[in-house]
Amino acid sequence: MIFAYKNSRLYAENIAVSDIAKQVGTPFYCYSKQQLTGNFLEFKNAFSGIDATICYALKSNSNHNIISLLQKLGSGADTVSEGEVRAALKAGISPDKIVFSGVGKTKREMEFGLRSNIGQFNVESIEEIELLNEVAGKLGVKAPVSIRVNPDVDAKTHDKISTGRKSDKFGIAWEDVFLVFDKAKHLKNIDIQGITTHIGSQITSLEPYKAAFHKVAELFKTLREMGYNLARLDLGGGIGIKYKDENPIKISDYADIIKEVIKPLNVKLFLEPGRRISGNAGILVSEVQYIKKTIERDFAIIDAGMNDLARPAVYGAYHEIISVDEGLEQHNIYDVVGPVCESSDIFGKERRLKELRSGDLLAILCAGAYGASMSSVYNLRPLIPEIMVDGDKVEIIRKRQTYEELLG
Ligand SMILES: Cc1ncc(COP(=O)(O)O)c(C=O)c1O
Repeated sequence: MIFAYKNSRLYAENIAVSDIAKQVGTPFYCYSKQQLTGNFLEFKNAFSGIDATICYALKSNSNHNIISLLQKLGSGADTVSEGEVRAALKAGISPDKIVFSGVGKTKREMEFGLRSNIGQFNVESIEEIELLNEVAGKLGVKAPVSIRVNPDVDAKTHDKISTGRKSDKFGIAWEDVFLVFDKAKHLKNIDIQGITTHIGSQITSLEPYKAAFHKVAELFKTLREMGYNLARLDLGGGIGIKYKDENPIKISDYADIIKEVIKPLNVKLFLEPGRRISGNAGILVSEVQYIKKTIERDFAIIDAGMNDLARPAVYGAYHEIISVDEGLEQHNIYDVVGPVCESSDIFGKERRLKELRSGDLLAILCAGAYGASMSSVYNLRPLIPEIMVDGDKVEIIRKRQTYEELLG
């Protein structure tokens, strides 16, 4: 365990988390370089021996230092905005390993992607393909395109992070795929290179993957038989992690089903994992401000808010919360809440913790993915720092925002 107790003190690798808090103040995100590296290499090694590019999904955590680390380990990037394409390029990711996803790319974003020579535009509607054709034509280039298909498979995950059902806004509806390919093949500045799919996030069962990948592989074969010269298959991301009592998919099992599906196809494989790389590599550390006791319950009011970590408020997501310095008895029940003026600013209800006092530190676990990257300055609360731990070294990889910066 990278975040573990030694002598009742929580450590990040070889450093006590409370010592980092003394140095940088609270709240802050703390990441482990060792965990990030291990997570990425586990993924990469599971696909060694086949033509696979792992395109880390920047949206899960877009800190420059993290992208750079993954770039050095061989990662490409899955991006969803001009900002993310820029972040990938800034971190030194080669343009041909950048995939540009997303349902709503603007003209300007397309132009930027084309000028930067990125390797793959994942397109999701005929309107988008037509606009990309127009923009590419003006620049005198051909846009490398993979068409995102919606296989109508329920990923059996949270409704708000499911993307591969008929009713979701993502991808080309299964029944429209041939029509869209037929239209796209007549567009002069579009080079259709492959198909892509992504069925959702925090997926903890192999079944939906199996169903979707077999369906997509069949489609791939059929399209090739129809004469489309497809060379790329992008199977998205979505592998879940253990927040509470989930039993996450083993990467080796996931790799096995993909290898079986793609073996007869002879394709370049692309994958877009985010959460599985960054999720358990980060914690959010916060200080208890007040203990507010009411007849109903005891609230531990902490100095991190839903603007810093939005997942519990947005998705009702569960994050384990532990004391940074362990107490002997774990018998008190608290609702752990933030200071933001919203009733949804709750990190955990009825959590068993040691007897808390103002000034105690809490760690919210598995906050590395969709934590800092989804944070905001709501309530005019400055963005909090991000810290990378490497053995016994601590590096501030994003400084706390100052009020001057916040207020412009
Ligand atoms: C197209 C696409 N690819 C990859 C991802 C990354 O998903 P995850 O972090 O669950 O691996 C997402 C997440 O929303 C996505 O929309």
